[in-house]
Amino acid sequence: MIGTPHVHLRVVDSTNARARALASSGAPHGTLVTADSQTAGRGRQGRTWTAAPGDALLMSLLVRGVRPLLPLAAAVAVCEAVAPSEAAIKWPNDVWIDRRKVAGILLEGRPQEGWAVVGIGLNVLTRSFPDELADTATSLALAGHDTSVAGARAALLAALDRWIEAPAEEVLSAWRARDALRGSPVRWGAGEGVAAGISDSGALIVELPDGSRTELDAGEVHLQR
Ligand code: BTN
Repeated sequence: MIGTPHVHLRVVDSTNARARALASSGAPHGTLVTADSQTAGRGRQGRTWTAAPGDALLMSLLVRGVRPLLPLAAAVAVCEAVAPSEAAIKWPNDVWIDRRKVAGILLEGRPQEGWAVVGIGLNVLTRSFPDELADTATSLALAGHDTSVAGARAALLAALDRWIEAPAEEVLSAWRARDALRGSPVRWGAGEGVAAGISDSGALIVELPDGSRTELDAGEVHLQR
């Protein structure tokens, strides 16, 4: 079972940074780092990730023997663990409830050495967010899910244990069933179009205004609300 050994810290700069250091010094597959709070939590695209102490599940899992769809598998696992009937995924791996972000996932690692750290920030007990997130973020508590941080962690580890080993077709099919963007107008740095699902490699397919299609492998896509 993943989640052992488990290092829990009251305060850390970033659980991902700590897990990466452990990975470099030979920690085994399944090593888990959690914290009550972070002073330098990292998000995707160089952003920061903030959460009030004790309100969020802040965890980083070391995975050795990385599969290409790991980022998608992690998002499916979060959905299944926290809100199986309503959670959706905004490409590539933000988890939404009611079209608001409840969890973010940051993968960091050394593909050439065969390991990655799956960092997950899940808003569990949060009741209010800073102004800049007030319209776009939610928590399990706000969405009416009565759970603790420890309960969410246990459920998430069980789901991750299954999904990080799942065959690619299963991951793709579960991800596609939760695709929050499909059919919606989206924009990104270089253009805009309508989201049309994901390819078998996990790229976002977008239909352009001229009817052609393009695939986005990485980066940030915004839903045109
Ligand atoms: C994102 O949506 O931008 C990804 C956010 C990932 C945040 C988590 S919190 C636990 C782990 N440690 C970090 O420094 N970041 C991830």
